[in-house]
Amino acid sequence: TATRHEAAALLRWYDRAARVLPWRVGPADRAAGERPDPYRVWLSEIMLQQTTVASVKAYFDRFTTRWPDVGALAAAEDAEVMAEWAGLGYYARARNLIACARQVAQAGAFPDTLDGLRALPGIGAYTAAAVAAIAFDRPETVVDGNVERVVSRLFAVQDPLPKSKPTLARLAATLTPQQRPGDFAQAMMDLGATVCTPRNPRCADCPLEGFCAARAQGIAAELPRKTPK
Ligand code: ADE
Repeated sequence: TATRHEAAALLRWYDRAARVLPWRVGPADRAAGERPDPYRVWLSEIMLQQTTVASVKAYFDRFTTRWPDVGALAAAEDAEVMAEWAGLGYYARARNLIACARQVAQAGAFPDTLDGLRALPGIGAYTAAAVAAIAFDRPETVVDGNVERVVSRLFAVQDPLPKSKPTLARLAATLTPQQRPGDFAQAMMDLGATVCTPRNPRCADCPLEGFCAARAQGIAAELPRKTPK
């Protein structure tokens, strides 16, 4: 299937506006076709659950300096890993991190399929899709809160969260291209974090402005609607 115009426009934007982050391949290497290291993608995605990009950066740098690959992390003492994790919270994540590193080191490499990834400790549907897309360029759709917001606006979905989650995931999947799905996933996250923000979205700077139903209706900032808790 042909890449939708939305995906093509978003990838063009990503090529010039992508955030430079320690777990990503830089623009020049990306243009040369280099893939990010699955170990670094996996580690970053685990750290980024419940923790902001800004706080994760320093932890990620310390972890990867001390344990540059999954074999090194697998060989670490539990207590050393827990000590480096201190401050990130959700310590079950660190326990699963160690268990996962040991399974992957034993197997020799990260699995490169959604099902193979999902079978590992601490890897749920979100992380499996993120690693499959970002590290292995599989056409999986990665849906986090940023992506839900972008999609709810693009298609002017009026149904409130959380009821609309399945609809938003289905719509997000219709956008995912067969070419560069990993860059597409990260571009959606970047767009949600920097342009299609919860309040005061910067629609004039958005590569999807011309496709956005909420923008056309003047209701971008009102979406996604939410059922009061
Ligand atoms: N949040 C979760 N995964 C991310 C990624 N790969 N890049 C930026 N923000 C993220």
